[in-house]
Amino acid sequence: MSDVLRADDVHKSYRRGREQVHALRGVSIEVHPGEVVALLGRSGSGKTTLLNCLLGWETPDRGLVHVPGAETPASASWATVAVVPQRFGLLEELSLADNVAMPARLAGLDDPRGTALGVLETLRLGHLADRPPEEVSLGEQQRTAIARALVVSPAFLVADEPTGRLDEDLSVHVLATLREVCAAAGTGVLIASHDPVVVASADRVVRLSDGLVVDD
Ligand SMILES: Nc1ncnc2c1ncn2[C@@H]1O[C@H](COP(=O)(O)OP(=O)(O)O)[C@@H](O)[C@H]1O
Ligand SMILES: [Mg+2]
Repeated sequence: MSDVLRADDVHKSYRRGREQVHALRGVSIEVHPGEVVALLGRSGSGKTTLLNCLLGWETPDRGLVHVPGAETPASASWATVAVVPQRFGLLEELSLADNVAMPARLAGLDDPRGTALGVLETLRLGHLADRPPEEVSLGEQQRTAIARALVVSPAFLVADEPTGRLDEDLSVHVLATLREVCAAAGTGVLIASHDPVVVASADRVVRLSDGLVVDD
């Protein structure tokens, strides 16, 4: 189906000194519109590499990535695939509101700031809207990155360990918000994590071990 975000038999290895690291050894995964998929696996199992291939930030050595409506993964717009990077990627010189408004501005939406404030409010960050990232906690920065991903109601959302900096209560809240907002917009969500809270809120779990998908 053409509206599915898909990796098909993706292989990727890295050279580390004289050693070859096989980060992905033939991984296939599908994310359908409106579903929440948890990508689980220990540190080093290949989760980030797989997300990077889906985003077009890395090129697979072998295999295919299909992004609906885009010629190549790297050319997909934020409204097609939005991302919550593991290290947030917020711009330090902008307020939280301006960080979140950025994709809405680039997409030419009517009221970028108003839309951004609404999403920040949903994620319980409204009171911090005018602060720069360095003046809020890491958990708040992480939620700001989630707000920035949601602001244009993307077709797909890819998140790398989005609850890694949050305590359990906040994780539950953030995941519930993600589910709600994404269900309303029909967004397909892929969450890389090793957090049990994520499993509980996923429709489907895909486990990675040593670069391969394994059965439960
Ligand atoms: N740029 C890189 N250069 C060399 N090795 C890498 C690079 N990126 C990832 N790796 C290796 O690939 C494997 C998978 O890493 P990664 O995809 O980051 O796993 P995870 O996100 O599940 O922790 C690990 O062994 C990691 O050390
Ligand atoms: Mg990772």
